[in-house]
Amino acid sequence: MKVALGADHGGVNLKEEIKKFLEAEGIEYEDFGCTCTDSVDYPDFALPVAEKVASGDFERGILICGTGIGMTIAANKVKGIRCALVHDCFSAKATREHNDSNILAMGERVIGPGLALEIVKIWLGTEFMGGRHQRRLEKIKMLEDNQ
Ligand code: RB5
Repeated sequence: MKVALGADHGGVNLKEEIKKFLEAEGIEYEDFGCTCTDSVDYPDFALPVAEKVASGDFERGILICGTGIGMTIAANKVKGIRCALVHDCFSAKATREHNDSNILAMGERVIGPGLALEIVKIWLGTEFMGGRHQRRLEKIKMLEDNQ
């Protein structure tokens, strides 16, 4: 699995923690920035990650900002992206099983690194259930295609 990573200045520290975790787990990733805590605009980092996931170059993406909200809004503008804002373990599992989310967003100012890494582990390790959930995703795709 290849994971595309992105953050703004509000999420860059948690992104570094996630990189260490992915390295320890032997999971391939690419960091699309940002690289320091100077103020930047989160859509500039959400877009390349979302495009890489939507194109199939990367299977999954992880986006971090202060709240995770801006990244989620921006990433979900890209066709084919199902970006889930997650701050608990139950939702991490459910959004993979039910929504087949392909990008995980979190807020560095919302949760600590311990919980965030647990969420990453669950989210990366959970499969989509398909079945009735596939039918619902197809309805979302129809909404997207009709825009
Ligand atoms: C940046 O200050 C902050 O607005 C951003 O990281 C994020 O929380 C936006 O949703």
